[in-house]
Amino acid sequence: MTMRRRSVLAAGAAGAAAVLTGGTSAAAATRTPATPDRRRLASAVAGSAWPGGSASLRSLADKVGLRIGSALYPEDISTASHSAIASGQFDVYTPANEMKWEVVEPEQGTFDWTGADNLVNYAKAHGAVVRGHCLCWHSQLPAWLTTDVANGKYTQAQLLDLLEQHIFTEMGRYRGKIWQWDVCNEFLTDTSPSGVDPNNWWIVNAGPEVITKAFQWAHEADPFALLFYNDYNNAGEDGTNAKFRACAALAESLQKNAHIDGIGIQGHLDTQYGWSPEQMREDIESYAAMGLKVAVTEADVRTFVNNSADQVPTDSLAQFAQPFEYQEMLKAALAVPECISFTVWGFTDENSWVPGSFKGEGYACLYDVNLRPKAAYSAFQSDLALAAFGAPQRVAGR
Ligand code: XIL
Repeated sequence: MTMRRRSVLAAGAAGAAAVLTGGTSAAAATRTPATPDRRRLASAVAGSAWPGGSASLRSLADKVGLRIGSALYPEDISTASHSAIASGQFDVYTPANEMKWEVVEPEQGTFDWTGADNLVNYAKAHGAVVRGHCLCWHSQLPAWLTTDVANGKYTQAQLLDLLEQHIFTEMGRYRGKIWQWDVCNEFLTDTSPSGVDPNNWWIVNAGPEVITKAFQWAHEADPFALLFYNDYNNAGEDGTNAKFRACAALAESLQKNAHIDGIGIQGHLDTQYGWSPEQMREDIESYAAMGLKVAVTEADVRTFVNNSADQVPTDSLAQFAQPFEYQEMLKAALAVPECISFTVWGFTDENSWVPGSFKGEGYACLYDVNLRPKAAYSAFQSDLALAAFGAPQRVAGR
């Protein structure tokens, strides 16, 4: 296991070094290793020598019509230092939690729209748009709902009614104000072959029609919003393409029986595993060939760190592999014009979900725990600046 991790990191670092020097990995591999010019490398990584200069990510991405986004936590809006980055660098925002059912309806029939309203208003004030996230997911459901269902209070039909009501209430409140909605989230198994998980909370309790119905209701509730199915590992991130195939099959059935506009690729990567950027690009192309739009919705690249407060990678090669994997994801997105937005799941390690969810890991964002831009940020700047010279213009999002 340790060997595998090391070799993947080494491959990432070789690639990253090749990008920095303009050479190829193959050339880098045959050359006698020279003493690295640390000062030159450091200044390149710091961004000063990169074509992006001091331009913001959103202004650079705008040149090819790509929206670049971040998930936002409440403090990203309310704290001046966070807000300067959120509004300065990004032009599409996803509420990290504030539109989830457990937050908006903590007691049955009692609603709290504070966080969601704040985010929608913040987007408007800063010339940005919103990705709504998410209407139908097995996680972060209100306790009153899961308890009642566990106690057998509702028939399948009654539970479907509650979901319908939830979708109409939430989408109705923000009708015309949300660019993309994640209607269903994470319904596919992690097995090969993959498919809709028969043990998914919604499938078990509301029946297999729930996904189709959710998309039908969502289209009725807000015909202006682009409707997405969102999942992880649905573009080869796990090294297999099983979930991509299942996701494409699900989308095809939704195109026939309901309404779907796009696929959300979460894009949570980890430097300890290998993955294929070519596979991701091919999968994005395949979704596009089906007439679907694509959004990278929750990108981050985590690695093992010393502790969750400082988040210094324990393997120095990870400092190269991390930005390299970010870049490869961005390039896969830039290559396909139907990919209309690229969102990171939080912009700073300070409030990233990673240390709380993956033991011993962190360093997953573009900015460090002190809100300083990291190598991945500079890499994004330079890639987006270069994209203006050749990446295709995005297809129009509605
Ligand atoms: C995460 C949030 O970032 C955390 O704050 C929360 O505690 C759990 O959920 N996939 C998703 C997101 O679709 O909604 C999750 O967000 C991360 C994984």
